[in-house]
Amino acid sequence: MEIRLQKVIADSGYTSRRNAENLIKKGLVSVNGKVVNELGFKVKNTDEVSVEGHILSKDEKEYYLLNKPRGVISSANDDKGRKTVIDLIESDKRLYPVGRLDYDTTGIILITNDGELTNILTHPKSNVPKTYLAKLDKIITMEDYHKIKNGLLIDGRIVDVKHIKIKKTDKKKNNCFVEITISEGRNHIVKKLFEKLGYDVEKLTRTHYAFLDLGTLLSGEYRTLSKKEVHELYAYKRG
Ligand code: URA
Repeated sequence: MEIRLQKVIADSGYTSRRNAENLIKKGLVSVNGKVVNELGFKVKNTDEVSVEGHILSKDEKEYYLLNKPRGVISSANDDKGRKTVIDLIESDKRLYPVGRLDYDTTGIILITNDGELTNILTHPKSNVPKTYLAKLDKIITMEDYHKIKNGLLIDGRIVDVKHIKIKKTDKKKNNCFVEITISEGRNHIVKKLFEKLGYDVEKLTRTHYAFLDLGTLLSGEYRTLSKKEVHELYAYKRG
C-alpha cells in the first residue's frame, strides 16, 4: 500500500501533518536518499523516509496506560529538566503522551508511539469522554452545579458536560468531591470551569479515558493496552 509522504511523517509521531508539509516544501525530507519536495508523493512501507536527517523508524507500536503522579509533566521532554511521564515508562521507543494533564493532575494518561492514533484521539471532533474527580475548596451550591451541567461558557465556547455528580461533601472541612465527564480536550478546562464560579480545584484526578479506567494501578504504575483496546480506541476515528 502506498501512503502520502506527509501522512507517513505525521503517523510516525515526528510532527503534525501541517508541519510535515512545511518540511517537505523546504526540501528537508528525503525518500531512499533523494530529496522529495512534492506534497502528496506516495511512499511504500519498504521506503526509507528521512526527515531533517532523522530516519523514521518502522518500529512496532507500543501503547501504555499510566497512572500519572503529581509533579510530573505530560510532554515528551521538558526544557527545565523536570521529570516527564515518558521517564516513567521503560521502553526504547520514542514515545509521547496522548494529550495533556496538568503538572499537579493525577490519573489516566495514554502513552504511545502511534501518531495516527494520537491524532485521532486528540482531534477536537473525536469526542473522547474523559472523567475527572475534582476536590473543591468549598461545597458546591446546587445553583452552580446546574450552571455547569447546563453548559458554561469558557473562553467563548460552551463546555459540553456529559455527566456531573457530587460524590462527597464534608461539611466540617467545607469541601466536596465532584465527578465530571467532558469530551473536549482544552487545556485546564476542568479547573477553568470551577474557577469561573469561584471554586478552587485543590486536587484533580482523571479516572476514565474513553472506556478505560485506572483499575488497580497505583500512582506511577502503568500497563500495556491490549490489541482489542487499541482497536476500540481507533473507532473514535471520524468519517
Ligand atoms: N482539566 C484541567 O483543568 N486539568 C487537567 O489536567 C485536565 C483537565
